[in-house]
Amino acid sequence: MMDAPFDAAAFKAGTRMQWDKSAAGWDGHTTMIRQWLAVATGAMLDMAAIREGSHVLDVAAGSGDQTLEIATRIGPSGRVLATDLSPAILDLAARNLARAGLANFATRVMDAEELDVESRSYDAAISRLGVMLCPDPGAALSGMLEALKSGGRAATLVFSTPQANPCVATLMSVALKHAGLPPADPFRPGSLFSLGKPGLIDDLFRKAGFADVATTVISAPFSVVSTADYLGFIRTSASPVLQILAGLDGNRQAAAWAEMDEALDRFGGENGWTGPNELLLTCATRP
Ligand SMILES: C[S@@+](CC[C@H](N)C(=O)[O-])C[C@H]1O[C@@H](n2cnc3c(N)ncnc32)[C@H](O)[C@@H]1O
Repeated sequence: MMDAPFDAAAFKAGTRMQWDKSAAGWDGHTTMIRQWLAVATGAMLDMAAIREGSHVLDVAAGSGDQTLEIATRIGPSGRVLATDLSPAILDLAARNLARAGLANFATRVMDAEELDVESRSYDAAISRLGVMLCPDPGAALSGMLEALKSGGRAATLVFSTPQANPCVATLMSVALKHAGLPPADPFRPGSLFSLGKPGLIDDLFRKAGFADVATTVISAPFSVVSTADYLGFIRTSASPVLQILAGLDGNRQAAAWAEMDEALDRFGGENGWTGPNELLLTCATRP
């Protein structure tokens, strides 16, 4: 049997709706996410050469955790534009930055694949765990290139392979099984691991027109007290998993969560629960 053709518009509508729904959950776990991604985020901002006075584009900014770090780094003489497909999560980003007393930012709802910003006007363009969710990541990278001044830097963070991210891989496979769906190609467009295939993201950066493309592998273990803490985050915030389970009734969803709980317990121990995660940090320059 042939697979149905991929419907990018329907996929995008589903992504927006699901992230609107999980916006509060993602935002509510900011402290956990910040700790999980602290090293990777610092490295991404360094590699993008973001400094005082920089003009920065943040793609798929979510509720703005990394936007806040950027806005703090660039100071009052810099500017950051946070963009995202989901209006609900971007509203939270605006609220969070305003609450922190920052005024050097703007937010604009925008599909990463159709970036509509001033050409050649940014010093840096970054995306933390965003570009992999685009079914056409090349379009997002082309838009980032177009936004940059000559010599401007881009940096993205995405998940690497399912093998190196066993908790995420487990969540996805258990969700698919309970939804009655066949095991999916983990590298399919728009999925969590879509850019994890070694060499793929570098090729996409080069095809978009970037120079000096380099990828670094970063270990980003997710450490919490218990499996329940990790699943609490996933159940409220992990849109790709929630999107798969959305059509199931309460009992069938409960069965899926129970199996995930059991499968993830092996990452727990005397010192709490730590799920291994591996990210790819890719940086490049606009010639
Ligand atoms: C895993 S969250 C990351 C959010 C934020 N960058 C962070 O690291 O906290 C993924 C974000 O990508 C956004 N997103 C997914 N597809 C998108 C697209 N095509 N264009 C723009 N944003 C998109 C979602 O709405 C969500 O806010």
